[in-house]
Amino acid sequence: MKPLQVGLIGFGTVGRGTWDVLRRNEEEITRRAGRPIRITWVGTRRIERARQGARGITGVQFTDDPGHVVRHPDVDIVCELIGGIEPARSLVLDAISHGKHVVTANKALLAEHGNEIFAAAHAKGVMVAFEGAVAGGVPIIKALREGLTANRIEWIAGIINGTSNFILSTMRDTGASFETALKEAQARGYAEADPSLDVDGTDAAHKLTIMSAIAFGVPMQFDKAYAEGIAALTREDLRYAEQLGYRIKLLGITRRAPNGIELRVHPTLIPTRRLIANVEGAMNAVLVKADAVGATLYYGAGAGAEPTASAVIADLVDVTRMHTADPEHRVPHLAFQPDQLTDVPFLAIGDVETSYYLRMRVLDRPGVLADITRILADREISIDAMIQKEPTEGEDQTDIILLTHKSIEHRVVDAIGRIESLPTVRGAVVRIRLEDLA
Ligand code: HSE
Repeated sequence: MKPLQVGLIGFGTVGRGTWDVLRRNEEEITRRAGRPIRITWVGTRRIERARQGARGITGVQFTDDPGHVVRHPDVDIVCELIGGIEPARSLVLDAISHGKHVVTANKALLAEHGNEIFAAAHAKGVMVAFEGAVAGGVPIIKALREGLTANRIEWIAGIINGTSNFILSTMRDTGASFETALKEAQARGYAEADPSLDVDGTDAAHKLTIMSAIAFGVPMQFDKAYAEGIAALTREDLRYAEQLGYRIKLLGITRRAPNGIELRVHPTLIPTRRLIANVEGAMNAVLVKADAVGATLYYGAGAGAEPTASAVIADLVDVTRMHTADPEHRVPHLAFQPDQLTDVPFLAIGDVETSYYLRMRVLDRPGVLADITRILADREISIDAMIQKEPTEGEDQTDIILLTHKSIEHRVVDAIGRIESLPTVRGAVVRIRLEDLA
């Protein structure tokens, strides 16, 4: 049968991995797809590097103009592995307007411009597949969109940025500072070109936005995502959390709450006994709570050449199988039929309800704790657990750590302001959210 012809744009780590896996497993992939899948065009700025990688292989043409690839009449599927917003956005829209299916691993592009891209694809009757955009090799998009299709999804909690998880694991295991652990992550090649996207929560928020849309049948709304990174976390807080039976992870959480959808990424204490709390190093994991199946956990490599290629090629196979199907009979891009997406409001972070870890440095005097607990009680914030550290010798100051029951965030923020203004409290109160994930 005539091969399906792929035009690859971008030939970095993932492009190279896709090339290698497609060649290595060609026979089995063909048996699964029903026809061969061939990369026939490569559009890349690093044309010499790509040519060297393809030495001895015939039937592939190279160009430094990706626009040529997306418009070429022989290309059936455009595989976008450039990353970032532009020129990726224009090239993808151009490919769609020329009737090409698109496979992309570009989470920023879909989270920020997915609505425009899916509308264009729907109008043109082509597919846009994006398994590689979330959690690398972990087939979480397939699971959410197809495997769990019988369920009403309640919430998703994911460790979806390997760099941050590696940094937090390293800080906990070795006592390294944030800066040292970040350098180590960069040296191992985990971090994005701009590592601030990893450590400030933006990369995780992109991935979470995509999962939220598929889980709840809502349009992509990255502008509603709250993102707080890990740069301010200290070894001290990681240690205190351990002593209380928790591990701190950068968690992306999206939940269907009674008054709206939560969409938030931030450092989070999770009970150490939960499986997901034990996901270490650069690995990713996504925990999905749904009404019929209960909790399911998806774990694996969230980045890297071949893990991401695994997801990209799975999409190429899907597109190949569905290539000739009537567009109405394909799996909808966002799991729900396009005219069935709803406009449920997203909650501002101040309206979210969760639990909190609060650490404060106080003067070790009678009545200090009473003042603090009064402020919390006045705002209906209930305390779940508390530890007070021994003051270091010769000092009259000590650390108090409080864990709260679930409270509305704006009440907690208000309480923290009041606590910080007490003359017996030194410096800022450290506030880290806590999720039980039961
Ligand atoms: N930089 C990302 C991470 C990998 O650290 O998880 C690609 O999404």
